[in-house]
Amino acid sequence: MSRALATTTASKRSPLPADLDATRLPAHVAVIMDGNGRWASRRGLPRVMGHREGVEALKRTLRLCSDWGIGALTAYAFSTENWNRPGEEVGFLMTLFERVLARELEALEQEQVRIRFLGDLEPLPAGLRELIANATARTAHNSGIHFNVCTNYGGRAELVRAARLLAERVAAGELDPASINEDLFAAQLHTAGERDPDLLIRTSGEQRISNFLLWQLAYAELHITNVLWPDFDERALHAALLDYQGRQRRFGGVDAAGA
Ligand code: IPE
Ligand code: IPE
Ligand code: MG
Repeated sequence: MSRALATTTASKRSPLPADLDATRLPAHVAVIMDGNGRWASRRGLPRVMGHREGVEALKRTLRLCSDWGIGALTAYAFSTENWNRPGEEVGFLMTLFERVLARELEALEQEQVRIRFLGDLEPLPAGLRELIANATARTAHNSGIHFNVCTNYGGRAELVRAARLLAERVAAGELDPASINEDLFAAQLHTAGERDPDLLIRTSGEQRISNFLLWQLAYAELHITNVLWPDFDERALHAALLDYQGRQRRFGGVDAAGA
């Protein structure tokens, strides 16, 4: 009986809050999940406990985005600069990624989530790479939300890689440099095939991009909240979406009223 109850609870969908316009939701939300360390320090806990709690926040956010009809969620999990952290913290994070991925794969499959990992995956531990390859393949044809986890991701590295890929094709005589345009360039990025994020959320109050999606965020609306990532919940996502829906996106033009 308790099992049945758990199943029912797990499959319950959260309705979209009434003050949000379902027709004007961001199609793609990106999030810089920051503040795990501070969350833990404030509780007198080791920093890594904040990372553990951050996983719960990510699961909540993915579930809500999926329930509310947002097409894609891209989360910054580990930057190319995060290798500069103490070895113990880096090691904890890699093990955490492995454990969570192994544990959650079945649920992701059931929820029709299509998971991908964006970044240079080569330097990741072999066990993690295997899990990533498996999860990517097993969810590739799922019809639900696109869930992108940026792991050993850096915006500059991504741009340099794109330039190199194009240069190689030019050098091989396969590509005319004059035919390189924005679409062809974007097609070399890890995010190829995904539309650009409409909304970027950064938690913990830092007002910077930290080498995240430098190309793709060109016209994203920015929402910075003081909430620390492990505390990010339905209320915080709701607030971000309300903020987004209050914006006038102009893309360099003038708004509809011509103001
Ligand atoms: C974000 O939280 C998680 C990662 C970068 C992996 P932090 O670990 O950066 O937390 P703060 O910013 O030190 O509080
Ligand atoms: C950005 O957070 C990277 C991730 C959330 C994975 P950081 O905590 O690494 O960024 P800085 O150092 O404050 O710019
Ligand atoms: Mg941080």
